Amino acid sequence: MARLTINGKTTEVNVEPNTPLLWAIREQAGLTGTKYGCGIAQCGACTVHLDGAATRSCIVPVAAAEGKKITTIEGLATNGVLHKVQKAWVEHEVPQCGYCQTGMIMAVAALLKDKPKPTDADIDKTITNICRCGTFQQVRQAIHAAAKA
Ligand code: FES
Ligand code: FES
Repeated sequence: MARLTINGKTTEVNVEPNTPLLWAIREQAGLTGTKYGCGIAQCGACTVHLDGAATRSCIVPVAAAEGKKITTIEGLATNGVLHKVQKAWVEHEVPQCGYCQTGMIMAVAALLKDKPKPTDADIDKTITNICRCGTFQQVRQAIHAAAKA
């Protein structure tokens, strides 16, 4: 049993301490916006924020997330108002199938908090999420739009 703080709410999860955080989020907390892609920290589909830092939740044991502030895509909007990254995603029609997009958005939201005006080089270095639909150009445009918002 572990106690997690997800999107500002304390949630008790009945899992082994070494269970990946991703599964506690999806199966115990019922927040299925965070996706499973590779399970080995390569694709970024499972990205959430841990104390504000973009983190690939498929390789973080639940025990390491206890006491930290976990934010998932479901908690990114504030009082029903979309985050500026989400707004830019809608305006630029970024998603195709959508599978990778929640992780992509969480990674970009963390990037813009650290670097409000990222260059293309910053984006290339930081946003290493994989999109099988090839939305990378739209992602880049939307990041620059969100940075201006
Ligand atoms: S599922 Fe975590 S990085 Fe791919
Ligand atoms: S939008 Fe389909 S995998 Fe990225």
